[in-house]
Amino acid sequence: MPNPLADELQTDRRARPSALVIFGASGDLTRRKLVPSLMGLAQDGLLPPGFAVVGFARRDWSQAEFRRRLEEGVEAHGREGAGDAFAEWQGRFSYFEGDYDDPESYRKLAVHLDEVDQRQGTQGNRIFYLATPPAAYQTILGHLHESGLSTETDTGPAGGTFARVIVEKPFGKDLDTAQALNAQVLAGFNEHQVFRIDHYLGKETVQNILALRFANSIFEPLWNHHYIDHVQITVAESIGIEGRGGYFDNAGIIRDMIQNHLLQVLTLVAMEPPVSSSGDSIRDEKVKVLRAIRSLTPEKVAASTVRGRYTAGWSRGEAVPGYLDEEDVAADSTTETYAAVKLYVDNWRWAGTPFFLRSGKRLPRRVTEIAIHFHRPPHLLYGDIHRSKLHRNVLLLRVQPDEGVSLRFGSKVPGPHFQIRDVRMDFSYGSEFGSRSADAYERLLFDAMLGDPTLFARRDEVEEAWRIVDSIVEGWCASEGRPADYEAGTWGPEEAEELLGPAREWRRP
Ligand code: BG6
Repeated sequence: MPNPLADELQTDRRARPSALVIFGASGDLTRRKLVPSLMGLAQDGLLPPGFAVVGFARRDWSQAEFRRRLEEGVEAHGREGAGDAFAEWQGRFSYFEGDYDDPESYRKLAVHLDEVDQRQGTQGNRIFYLATPPAAYQTILGHLHESGLSTETDTGPAGGTFARVIVEKPFGKDLDTAQALNAQVLAGFNEHQVFRIDHYLGKETVQNILALRFANSIFEPLWNHHYIDHVQITVAESIGIEGRGGYFDNAGIIRDMIQNHLLQVLTLVAMEPPVSSSGDSIRDEKVKVLRAIRSLTPEKVAASTVRGRYTAGWSRGEAVPGYLDEEDVAADSTTETYAAVKLYVDNWRWAGTPFFLRSGKRLPRRVTEIAIHFHRPPHLLYGDIHRSKLHRNVLLLRVQPDEGVSLRFGSKVPGPHFQIRDVRMDFSYGSEFGSRSADAYERLLFDAMLGDPTLFARRDEVEEAWRIVDSIVEGWCASEGRPADYEAGTWGPEEAEELLGPAREWRRP
């Protein structure tokens, strides 16, 4: 189904011609996400006429084999009608067999790109997408630099040529490796050429946090520690590790989800109003939030975090194995598949208001939400008898799957007694806008084509997020403990309940 907002987007945002080079083109991300998303853009008329994709990988594939695999991916993972778009655009996809660490491959790639410029009108503009395993990033970046492929002749809106690089997560595995990777990226590219992906920022409802806060006047006066008791950010998944044991066992949920997606969402919830809507104004404010988050000392980690690991149980009606029985997981693994973390943003606005972040695999359902829990009224007119029935007011931002915003507040129950009960005021994307939201990758690929960095993480943001996460991981390592068990299909370990402290409880979405 075409996106009804595409016309609006198109009026003032037009991408210049370019060739997108995907390193790791034989991998899952290309087939499941990147190419189906490109076809979504094609369906909305957002791809520029001069556009081409070059898939770079090591496999000995023919052009026909490459296109056949992409077509299958588009049929399985694209929108309705994406297959027709691929039939129309497939002539613009070419496969390039090369070695990531062979300089000759990059010389030949440059020649191939010149031919693509001639044939497809891509005008010398290039976007390089690193979709390989992270171990290959440094090699590819070094060669892009040495071969001159990272050089652009002009960064202005109209003239010259541009060269950009999109870097997939994980961006490092701790602060040291992230700094080293940043140094490597910035040896060949300038910061304005670099697009570090966090696909949560491309989600429509995550962007709506800024609209809700800064395009309305009713929320912002309440958006501080005077009115907000605490914030819960939940990213729950019902899936397990989906055959990615080799990667996940080295990462854990803290690196896989919290370092990037949850901390990024936290910055949007907690940031100050930016001075403008420019990418740097917004990212300046986001990074200030991260800087204000207190690092945890090893002693504090035990009281401020809970980690868990799923044991065998049930998921969506099926018996599923425990984490330790998953493929490619070390028998003595201490990797967590669930984490809950209490963080404080030490600034004027948020002093004393805890932010609780939790994420886990094999929880009862897939849900991402931000719950703003307000203080209770300072005085209750109706006596203690009703107090127990009254919960805090909660503003709930539902990111997925049931996208929308709702507000919980107390209301009088009809009848002769003065009884109060919680009710809900609701806005739902589906019923209001009548279309499904575009996939996050569509938005992010389009923004990278436009050169708009707003929804990508800047160098300093990534490094600050690692500082926070490193302090947690160090505490866990020092304790030599292991994650608490929780049964697959439940809401995580019991210990997580205590993290919130008295008179607060996790939402059960
Ligand atoms: C990825 C993680 O970044 O996000 C995965 O590596 C996770 O482990 C995924 O499943 C969740 O994304 P989404 O968009 O399905 O919530």
